[in-house]
Amino acid sequence: MTAITDFVSYEAHGTVGVITVDSPPVNALSQGVRAGIQGGIEAAVADDSVTAIVLACAGRTFIAGADITEFGKPPKAPALNDVIATMESATKPVVAAIHGTALGGGLETALGCHYRVAVASAKVGLPEVKLGILPGAGGTQRLPRVVGVQKALEFITSGVHVPAPQAFEAGLIDELIEGDLTEGAIAFAKKVAAEGRPLVKISEQNDKLEEAKKNPAIFDEFRKKNARKFRGFEAPENCIKAIEGAVNLPFPEGLKRERELFSELLAGEQAKAQQYFFFSERLANKIPDVPKDTPLIDIKTAGIVGAGTMGGGIAMNFLQAGIPVTIVETSQEALDKGLSVIKGNYSATVSKGRLTQEKMDKYMSLLTGSTNLEDLKDADIVIEAIFENMDVKKEVFGKLDKICKQGAILATNTSTLDVDEIGEATSRPEYVIGLHFFSPANVMRLLEEVRTKKTSPTVMATCMALAKKIGKVPAMVGVCDGFVGNRMLAKRGDQAAQLILEGAKLEDVDRVLYDFGFPMGPFAMSDLAGNDVGWRIRQGRGVTSPVADAICELGRFGQKTGDGYYHYEKGSRTPQPDPIVEEIIVKAARDAGINRREVSDEEILKRCIYPMINEAAKILEEGIATRASDIDVIWVYGYGWPIYRGGPMRYADHIGLENIYNDMLKFKAEHGDEWTPAPLLERLVKEGKGFKDL
Ligand code: CAA
Repeated sequence: MTAITDFVSYEAHGTVGVITVDSPPVNALSQGVRAGIQGGIEAAVADDSVTAIVLACAGRTFIAGADITEFGKPPKAPALNDVIATMESATKPVVAAIHGTALGGGLETALGCHYRVAVASAKVGLPEVKLGILPGAGGTQRLPRVVGVQKALEFITSGVHVPAPQAFEAGLIDELIEGDLTEGAIAFAKKVAAEGRPLVKISEQNDKLEEAKKNPAIFDEFRKKNARKFRGFEAPENCIKAIEGAVNLPFPEGLKRERELFSELLAGEQAKAQQYFFFSERLANKIPDVPKDTPLIDIKTAGIVGAGTMGGGIAMNFLQAGIPVTIVETSQEALDKGLSVIKGNYSATVSKGRLTQEKMDKYMSLLTGSTNLEDLKDADIVIEAIFENMDVKKEVFGKLDKICKQGAILATNTSTLDVDEIGEATSRPEYVIGLHFFSPANVMRLLEEVRTKKTSPTVMATCMALAKKIGKVPAMVGVCDGFVGNRMLAKRGDQAAQLILEGAKLEDVDRVLYDFGFPMGPFAMSDLAGNDVGWRIRQGRGVTSPVADAICELGRFGQKTGDGYYHYEKGSRTPQPDPIVEEIIVKAARDAGINRREVSDEEILKRCIYPMINEAAKILEEGIATRASDIDVIWVYGYGWPIYRGGPMRYADHIGLENIYNDMLKFKAEHGDEWTPAPLLERLVKEGKGFKDL
């Protein structure tokens, strides 16, 4: 075996030269890997003993893409495009052997090979769009030449990871290998050489472009169809333009066009924010005081207390991950209702063609209903998902403590209550943790995990790993009212309520936040979630909010009653401004002695966003969140903060903390002490630093 570089080796296996990339963790295309592949191809071409070449990877995956940590740094030769050109023009057949994930530059490298084979469990894709960029090493030019323009548009603008069998159907993979991949790839390469099959250069294959050449409207139709999905994002449009280039320009010109569009995105703020977010999401997995090698509890079965909306949604995550669930309700009637909602949800997904009946049957076979808490005695984790009442929760935890086996994790899905206090209701507070799922729990990606003063490292490490297993993105936070997400949300809600009293139209508040990139504004969101939820919480706490209370007193609970802050026509989810609500607002303002005025969009945005940032600074100072970037993960995955703005902390750094601080002082002069900048914000401004420097 010859080492070409530190990360790439070359070895002849009989008549086939095998180039192996070995650069953990994911064989990303760092300079050493690029140079190694180029050198490996040159060595194999020069090796007279071989007639064909295999490009394979060691470890868990084929090349997972460009090395994202190199972005923004001065480029180092060889460029990936040059490596790919060397491969494509090699005089012996080059076969990519794919396992794990061939993503981004990894798939582009494979597309530069003459043939591709893969194990069935592999996935391929061009996920650059998720990093705010586009495939910059020929992906937008070669993929449409293999799978056609329509499919290429879909793959590249969605960044989807396509399972190998589907990629095989689409012609992207030439053979699926059973058994050992390298052996299979060597056998395939030998066959190609023996049969004298052509050295397929994808860059020269133009047949699949013909349809789009004849029907250029395909691009605008695609833009129109996906307008909502692409709203606010810059990368999808450049991806489309690059694919248009593939159709309209000769290959070398198309490559140049791709490079221009790639560079344009790479220099922009969205790409920086999305790449920052990629690493933030992974960093959130790490808890500084929980060592990496902390032993984990093996979660083989789960119990859920409460089969309501949250309990049912939580159960679905476990079922889909193949973990059997026992779900407990207090009455048979409530249990039957809960079980039928879960079944109904799966049936709806089956009828939309997004789930097979077979899989649904498998999921349902893992679900057991019960009205007896004793049935949770063998569960490895129990998640309580009943209504928000401390006394009732403590009673349930006291019972679970007696029933559940030693070593079982006892979790609460509370979104507001003191998890330390809940833990103290048991004899094993070190096994108690908050697992705050977001509604709908089977859809929303965020899992806000809440550690108490006593939660053990093993329980924390297990719950972080578990989140990944059930398809969630976790962030560990400490105990406080509303934890991180809802505590910040409350600040935005307060300002939204105040702004409409001062004269802003509620539809303008919603529009400004929608245009910022949220899926909807605060009033539309409240109508969707149910205005009665907040009303009951306010009643419990003895606080009032004049407009919100008045609309609830009229039974305007939101979409479910047809009226809320907006009016909804029967069967419609489209909010329509309602003069009755405007009257309520005007009266409430009069009662509060407020002189109404015009409020600019700029003021609406700052007044809604800056208090959240200020609250986040307090959260950081109190140690409730470990890092600023964890807060960004929570807001993107739990509250629809536009990922292309990176999250509230990243956005604050982008705006400049000094600018935010100065605006806050202005608002303080006008509106009072609630606008006092947090000490941490003040300190960072004085030191000329950002949240990124913490
Ligand atoms: N560059 C640098 N580091 C990367 C990386 C990349 N492309 N992909 C993953 N890593 C790092 C992660 O940061 C993580 O590091 P730590 O262990 O220090 O946290 C480690 O590799 C493992 O990653 P995951 O925890 O995500 O592992 P996983 O097994 O859950 O997932 C994966 C593996 C599916 C490959 C996932 O990491 C992933 O999606 N990576 C990004 C893939 C991607 O976007 N590729 C395109 C890059 S852009 C490009 O290629 C441009 C071009 O056109 C040339």
